[in-house]
Amino acid sequence: MIEADDLTIDYGSSKRKLRAVEGVSFRLGQSESLAFIGPSGCGKTTLLFALSGLITPSKGSVKIGKKKVAGPRRDVALILQNAGLLPWKTVWHNANLSLVLAGDYPARNAQDILEELGLGNVKSRFPAELSEGMKRRVGIARALSISPSVLLMDEPLASLDTLTREKIQDLFLTLWKDRGFTLVLVTHDIEEAAFLGQEIIVLTEKPARIKGRVSNREVGPLDYRQSEAFDRTVKALREELER
Ligand SMILES: Nc1ncnc2c1ncn2[C@@H]1O[C@H](COP(=O)(O)OP(=O)(O)OP(=O)(O)O)[C@@H](O)[C@H]1O
Ligand SMILES: [Mg+2]
Repeated sequence: MIEADDLTIDYGSSKRKLRAVEGVSFRLGQSESLAFIGPSGCGKTTLLFALSGLITPSKGSVKIGKKKVAGPRRDVALILQNAGLLPWKTVWHNANLSLVLAGDYPARNAQDILEELGLGNVKSRFPAELSEGMKRRVGIARALSISPSVLLMDEPLASLDTLTREKIQDLFLTLWKDRGFTLVLVTHDIEEAAFLGQEIIVLTEKPARIKGRVSNREVGPLDYRQSEAFDRTVKALREELER
């Protein structure tokens, strides 16, 4: 369960204050998925950082389970906008970085996760030797290595070609259904939000406020993109964004 109550985030001092997020509230049950969609620069990454405990809200609060979030947590994984790989480390070490930092390395399941993500035979390669899609999958492997109960993703597939993006979206969907983590996705891609979010929150221009909510409970089947429900959601999102 993840719950935000009147989340408001300001950057800067009181004199030169920049409000990035304002009055965002939502509640998401265990194993549910939520997507945020909003214009570039509106405050999406800031919002996600507050959910992960990396920044402290100026007002309001975030709760995961029964506990108020007061800093980074062991059961929350964050996939960053560019996968955050270290160029001088191999795939294996990049995928295990969170575990090394947590003092849990080596993990029994690390090899299994790499295999599952199709990275089993490239684990001694360096990021520069990988395709963009593979790099994103290493980022996913790193996030899954800690067996998170909440997975937060910040535009994990931005700037990938459509085919690769849809393949990795399929992978996210399968992992989410199999593993039962709670998923929060930030994206500026309408179809990505419609494919992965059981609920979708549309944000305003900066500061990010809630502009509308679209319910999309039919999420789940891999062929969802071909369905009428999917088309309806895409249309509803377009209308909300243009309103
Ligand atoms: N550390 C910071 N200090 C001051 N202002 C910041 C800081 N980080 C972000 N901002 C500002 O806050 C606003 C929201 O930024 P944020 O990165 O959250 O937006 P975003 O929706 O994720 O953008 P994008 O779509 O480009 O990823 C922007 O105006 C940005 O310039
Ligand atoms: Mg961002």
